[in-house]
Amino acid sequence: MNKDAIIEQTASFVRKKFETDSSGHDWWHMYRVWQLAKSIAATEKEADLFVVELGALLHDVADWKLHDGDEEGGVKVAREWLESLGVEKRVVDHVEDIMRTVSFQGANIPPAMKTIEGKIIHDADKLDAMGAVGIARAFAYGGAHNHMMHDPEVKPEAHNDFESYKNSKSPSITHFYEKLLLLKDRMYTKTARQMAEHRHQYMEQYLEEFYAEWEGKK
Ligand code: ADP
Ligand code: NI
Repeated sequence: MNKDAIIEQTASFVRKKFETDSSGHDWWHMYRVWQLAKSIAATEKEADLFVVELGALLHDVADWKLHDGDEEGGVKVAREWLESLGVEKRVVDHVEDIMRTVSFQGANIPPAMKTIEGKIIHDADKLDAMGAVGIARAFAYGGAHNHMMHDPEVKPEAHNDFESYKNSKSPSITHFYEKLLLLKDRMYTKTARQMAEHRHQYMEQYLEEFYAEWEGKK
């Protein structure tokens, strides 16, 4: 099977898997990350586009939130899928490594992507947690997990480990300080850094409006 057909079939596979999610992790997140990753890769000439596209499409299949906290189950599903299409081991191993490394784990844990392909996917995934779409996702996630929208008495925490980040019940506005506003300084690629700057400013402006409305000042 040629590379284009493998990517097309993987997109359909992922689309079916994520079709019904309502917590911000739906197929269209995978779609946006895929498109963003291609845009970023266009300015990173040495990147292997096949790995970038497959990794972007599959990056959340191992997500701990989707398999009752079992990351291994998702990794296995993705591996078996790629092997069934005859994708070479080197590429499967690389995609698996990206899936295991892509998640945000807490404010005090820096990202640890090793390859340019992984860095591009990381940046695309984090960009999708920022800006207009990122704001929408934070509230969708909060609603799906029964978190409050905003509680002025809850102070943000800087998480030191993945467990405490995962178990956090922070309101969606608090999540901006625990993650979303930290992302612009965590981008690996120049293109993503520039895009993140714009999305960051948009979120800052959004918060200003939000607080003004909260106090009846606007
Ligand atoms: P990543 O894909 O960066 O590893 P997560 O799995 O942590 O991201 O989060 C997926 C989406 O849900 C992101 O848009 C993220 O900002 C949002 N999210 C995660 N935790 C919370 C929370 N406590 N409150 C609101 N949104 C959240
Ligand atoms: Ni993601």
